Formats: sequence, C-alpha cells, structure tokens
Amino acid sequence: MSSETQRLVGELLVSSAVSVGSSSFSSSQGDKQLLPAGNKEKSVSVLEIDSAKERLNAELKAKQEKMKDSADVKAMWSFREKLPAFKVKAEFLKAMANNQVLVVSGETGCGKTTQLPQFILEEEISSLRGADCSIICTQPRRISAISVAARISSERGEALGETVGYQIRLETKSSADTRLLFCTTGVLLRRLAQDPKLTGVSHLLVDEIHERGINEDFLLIILRDLIPNRPDLRIILMSATINADLFSKYFGNAPTLHIPGLTFPVAELFLEDVLEKTHYNIKSEFDNFQGSSRRRRKQQDSKKDPVTELFEDVDIDSHYRSYSRSTRESLEAWSGSLIDLGLVESTLEYICHHEGDGAILVFLTGWDDISKLLDKVKVNHLLGDQSRILVLPLHGSMPTVNQREIFDRPPPGKRKIVLATNIAESSITIDDVVYVVDCGKAKETSYDALNKLACLLPSWISKASARQRRGRAGRVQPGVCYRLYPRIVHDAMLQFQLPEILRTPLQELCLHIKSLQLGAIGSFLSKALQPPDHLAVQNAIELLKTIGALDDKEDLTPLGRHLCTLHVDPNIGKMLLMGSIFQCLTPALIIAAALAYRDPFVLPINRKEEADEAKRSFAGDSCSDHIALLKAFEGWKEAKRSAKERSFCWENYLSPVTLQMMDDMRMQFLNLLSDIGFVDKSKGPSAYNHYSNDLEMVSAILCAGLYPNVVQCKRRGKRTAFYTKEVGKVDIHPASVNAGIHLFPLPYLIYSEKVKTTSIFIRDSTNISDYALLLFGGNLVPSKSGEGIEMLDGYLHFSASKSVLELIRKLRGELDKLLNRK
Ligand code: CDP
Ligand code: MG
Repeated sequence: MSSETQRLVGELLVSSAVSVGSSSFSSSQGDKQLLPAGNKEKSVSVLEIDSAKERLNAELKAKQEKMKDSADVKAMWSFREKLPAFKVKAEFLKAMANNQVLVVSGETGCGKTTQLPQFILEEEISSLRGADCSIICTQPRRISAISVAARISSERGEALGETVGYQIRLETKSSADTRLLFCTTGVLLRRLAQDPKLTGVSHLLVDEIHERGINEDFLLIILRDLIPNRPDLRIILMSATINADLFSKYFGNAPTLHIPGLTFPVAELFLEDVLEKTHYNIKSEFDNFQGSSRRRRKQQDSKKDPVTELFEDVDIDSHYRSYSRSTRESLEAWSGSLIDLGLVESTLEYICHHEGDGAILVFLTGWDDISKLLDKVKVNHLLGDQSRILVLPLHGSMPTVNQREIFDRPPPGKRKIVLATNIAESSITIDDVVYVVDCGKAKETSYDALNKLACLLPSWISKASARQRRGRAGRVQPGVCYRLYPRIVHDAMLQFQLPEILRTPLQELCLHIKSLQLGAIGSFLSKALQPPDHLAVQNAIELLKTIGALDDKEDLTPLGRHLCTLHVDPNIGKMLLMGSIFQCLTPALIIAAALAYRDPFVLPINRKEEADEAKRSFAGDSCSDHIALLKAFEGWKEAKRSAKERSFCWENYLSPVTLQMMDDMRMQFLNLLSDIGFVDKSKGPSAYNHYSNDLEMVSAILCAGLYPNVVQCKRRGKRTAFYTKEVGKVDIHPASVNAGIHLFPLPYLIYSEKVKTTSIFIRDSTNISDYALLLFGGNLVPSKSGEGIEMLDGYLHFSASKSVLELIRKLRGELDKLLNRK
C-alpha cells in the first residue's frame, strides 16, 4: 500500500472520528500503543471518507491476493491446509457471523491460535472490509504473543509488524498497516482503562481460556458486561479441549464449535511400567544416597500431599503382584513429594537406546529441576554420543531470543530433548515430539487467606493437564507418554486445576477493578466464573486501605489512582512514589524493577556457595537483599560502560538478560512517574537523587513501600527469632543475605514476600529502624498506657513527649498530602 494513501486514509478517518484498525494501533511508543488516536477537529465530507476507505480496501485485497502466489506462502499454505482447523473454516466463519460470542475448542496444535484469527483477517480483507478490520487476540504469555505473530506473518509472506503484529509490556512490533494484533491479556486490560468500549476493535479473540489465568477470568467478566454495549463486536473464546461448556454457559449458552482432532494414538505408561522397562530401583538409589534420603524423609514429614497419602493406604503387593521384586521395592520407596531426577534420566536413557527417532519432551516443575537435569544430561554418556543429542530448556521467563531451535527439527541423526515447564502443555506446540516424559507436577501458587501468605509448592497436576501433556506426543506419528507416577495417583488427580483467581492475593486485581470503574469490588467479583473467597477479597481491600490506596468507603484515593497508572503491585508502586518524593529515585526504580520482574541473581546448582558469597559481598554490612541487588545492578552498569559486562555477570552469578530487562523497566517506570507528575524529566536525574547514596534513607523508602510486610526481630540469647503478626514465627529464606546473621543492628525487617514451602520463609528482606516504621509505617494511635503512641497493627510502641508526637503527626499528614497530590 502506498504510504500516501495510508496517510490520507489515516487522516480522513481519524479526523472524522471513525475508528479503524490503523488508528487503533497508532504507532506511538510503549504501552500507549493500544490507545485510540485522539480526535482531530477537521471537517471532511462523508464521500471523501468513503472513497478513501474503498481505495484502502481494494489495496489490501490486491496485496493479499498477490502474496498468495509467492512460493513460500504456497508452501505454508499446503501445511496450513492439513491442520484440523482448516476443515472447519467455513463453519467457523458462518458461526462467527451469526453470533456475537463463540466458544471454539480443539486439541492443542489443531490450529486455533494461528489459523482462526487469520481466517477472520483473510475473510475481512477479501470481502473488502480490510479498512474497518481490527482484530485483537490475547495471549496469557509474552513468548506466545511473539511466536504466534511471527508465525502468522511468515504464513502470509510478510515481515512481522506489517499486517500482523504484537504488543507486550515494553515491546511492540506493529504499524499503521497492522490489522491483527497479538497482545498479552495484561496489555488489553490496560487499554480498557482508557477505552472501556474497545472502540474500533472489530474482533476480539481470547486465547487459552481453559488455563483460567486471573487476567483471563477478569477479562471475561468485563466482556460479558460489554457485549450489550458493543453489538458489533465479535468475541471468540478459544480453549483446549477442556470444559468448553463452562464458558458457553457463562455467556448465556453461546454456541460452541469443536475442532475434531487429528492426533495419533499415544501409548501411556505409568511408573510401574516405566520401572519394569528401565530397571531403575528407586529404593537402592536412595540407599546409595543416604543424605538425600534423609532430606527426603524430612521433607515428607513436613508436608504430606493428599495423593501420596492415598497411595500409602494401598496394599502395593497385592495391587502390583505381577511386577518384579525391584519394581515392587521401588513402588514402596516411591514418594510423590520429590521429583526423582535419576529416574527421569534413566527414562531418557531407555528411550534413546530402545525407542525409534523422535524428539522427547520432558515436563518438569521449574527452573531448578530443569537446570539440575541439564547439568546431569550434559555429562551422561549413556544417552549416547553428546554430539548426537540436543538438549534445550524451555520455560516462561526465558529470553525471547533463541527460541527457534525449540520448534525446528534437529539435523538427521540428532535427537532433540526439550526440558520444559507446563508452558509446553498447551500454549506452545513442538511438532516433532514423539515421547513425553511427565513428572506429574507443576509449581503452583496457592493463597492462604487466613494467614495472608502465598504458598509456592510443586503440586499434582489435574487429569485435564495430564491429558494435555500426553497429547503433545502424537503430533506427527504415534507416540508414547512415560508417566513417572503410579496409575493410582493419576486416578486420584483432580478433574481440573483450580483457577488462578482462587489461588492468588487479589490486591492488584481489586485496584484494577476500581480504576476501570467497575463498581463495588465485592459485587463485581461475585460475577466471576468462580468467585473468589470473601476473606481473600477482604484481605486485599484491607491492604489497599492500609497503604492508602482506598478510603474508608472503598473509593480510590488520588494515591490509589497514581498506583493504578504504575501497573505494578501497589506496594511496589508506593515505593516508586516515595523514591521520587524523598530524592532516592534511582534506587527505588531499580529495586522496584527487580521486585516486579525477577531477581537478577542466578543460582548455579554446583556453585551455590560462591554465588551466595557474591551476593553477600554486594550487600556489604547493610543486612539487605534489596541493597545487594541495587549494588549488583550498579556494578553491572559500570561494567557495561567499560565493556566488561560478560565477565562481571559471570564472576558475580548474575543474569545479564534479567539485568537488561530491569534496566528497561526502570525507564518505563520513570516515564510513568513523569506521566502522573511525580517526576519532571526536564530537570534531569540529579534533581531526584540527592539521597540515593544514603543507604539508611533507601531502607526507609523500602519500609514505606513494603509496609505492612514487617517482621520483628527478637533476641533469643545469642540468636534472633523473627515474628510476624499473622503467622507468628517465620524463617529467613536460605538464599537471603540475612540468612546467616545471628544478631541484627536494628529491630525490624521489612520484606517483599512471605512464602510457604517447606516452612514459612520471608524472601528478600532489609533491616530497618523503628524510626523508619514510625514515620512511614501504618497508622498511629495513642498507646493504651497514655504515654506515647503505638502502631495500629501492634508492632511498634513508642514513647515520646506530646510535642514530639504532634510533630510526627504533622510530618505524616504532609507526606499524605504529597502522595495524594492530583
Ligand atoms: O492454538 P493451537 O494449539 O490449536 O495450534 P496453533 O498454535 O495454531 O498451531 C498450529 C500448528 O502450527 C502447530 O501444530 C505447529 O505445527 C505450527 N506452528 C509452528 O510451527 N510455529 C509456531 N510458532 C506456531 C505454530
Ligand atoms: Mg493455541
């Protein structure tokens, strides 16, 4: 399309306030990308608009037709034609034309994500409606938004960012020509804040709804309310073959379209069969490693999971009489509470020696297991000549580069082994997988509303997930699924996994509800597919009140409004605001980026001590994990300037990719702070960093942000014990720089996260003084004794003269005004 026509059409359409795709995806930077373009006052005749639109429609169609002749597109076409989705194309387009909401289900890999949005796009363009077409398809994860947009672009023979683009946080690839945009669900939710009616969007596809992520469940509530106000908007909900009826019912019995699968049969082996084949003896392996066996028992005692308990009641001998003695021994010794990487390795060896060609996909619980197994496999000669295997990790937070290898077929004679988390379960399809090794677990958070804490433990997947995992093996030929747990455990698994909205703290969601003006939090959430627990909602509201984001009537305060704009956890947002007010901006930006994204420290399995030591040396005597990561970041910046980035990261056990992401996020936060008037960028960084090297000040800002995450340090002889209000005694996480410290100089620790794994741990923490808490902590009330004040939460008792108390009250009052400035 000529840029002149594009410019003309864009101008005409924008000026007449007719929204089209090109104006919806205006090409400004960053998160504003999805905002509708503003209306320019200019009068243009309807005739002029019509003729410009007609020209654009014709141009789009001509271009699409022309591309079909290219050899690459033809080759892709013959691939596409074989996908099961292709067979329902006409039926899909018809159902979509006749219904406002449509639920489509189909096996993973049948072509939902890559084909359905493309069918709409092609149909709209060839029916000369290309100008008015603006399709958005949401993805729960960044990596799938990018890879799918890239895939479709190549299927169309175009560069990424032309007709098909993507938008994720901090990264956008789209243009004025973009008619189909893949974005993360979070990006769409942010657009809704500016544009509640999704003006100009013609089709919205919500993908992977079966995963029941909190953002998707939230979006579904909003969409159900939006439908009557946007009768022209088409909504397509896409789900793997799981519970499609649930979604149909939610949308007033919306029609469902099922795409019949085209998968090959996959044989299923359970632990008992795997043991017979591999001759792996769990019992003797553990007898050989007494230490780990003891650890295992200890861990087992501290938490028994329901499935393992169930297994204990079974008379194994009678149940499995047909199995060999070593298998029976192994089954008796088997404990579901740990992943036995030795068994995974043996299974891989077995496949490499006894089974035919084909890639192996291994499902593990997280980065820990993946990196441990990577290390093991790299030195395992039983897998065959190392030059003949290609082992690749795959997990959600991997950098966006180097992904292609995972999808590509390896050279002949080489076997691909992908070690993945449950990301490979339904959102990413690796075609050449013939063998699946399934450990049966996934790391899942749950939320304990009573104790206000997140639990992060590997737990059993659901039957639905197990079926998904198995299905990954039958894409190109019959496959085999090796389940590393007994059949009886499979039988005891839940039908479906609990939705995320029932498993996480809700403060960010509640803040979002208020900022989108969706009414009272409680009644809005009661409209969810599965409404969260009352106590969890109350906890979130209470927290938002404590930090001053909501007032007593649960209305958003000006501070709450600022926090919404920052798009981070409200506590992290408050830290950013305080950093700008108190002239510690750069440290606040860096620490907030790490807390919002992830910690840059890597944990190499066999050099754990060296890595801990490196982290401790960054912390110095600050007793603070947050200061350690701040210093690490500063060191990295310095090393980068002198081109020593690689060796610096290597020597200090830091991830350059995470540090780079933190750096980008830091800039994004700065822009957002400037948008809400807390920073005036024209003044330069020095105007906001007067106290940035003052670590006491930085710690106080951390206290202001992270409150009420406080732990009281109580001296017990030569050691310190740690107490929180909600759960009593807690431990410091072993990875913290504060883990080995017996006595702390200051009486409190402020922490970013409290998690329950084998016991209750506080993750990153910083030692702070009572003054920091007094000035920046929770609300103060006169103490019962009449002498002094105490904090409402009971952590702090402070005696002082009346005039000092009055002074503190005034200071805090002024601070509140600063935080709530409009
Ligand atoms: O969404 P659904 O799971 O139904 O399938 P899809 O993501 O549309 O993928 C359909 C097919 O396209 C897959 O089976 C892959 O063979 C292929 N594909 C690919 O080669 N590269 C991608 N980045 C995405 C899909
Ligand atoms: Mg898909």
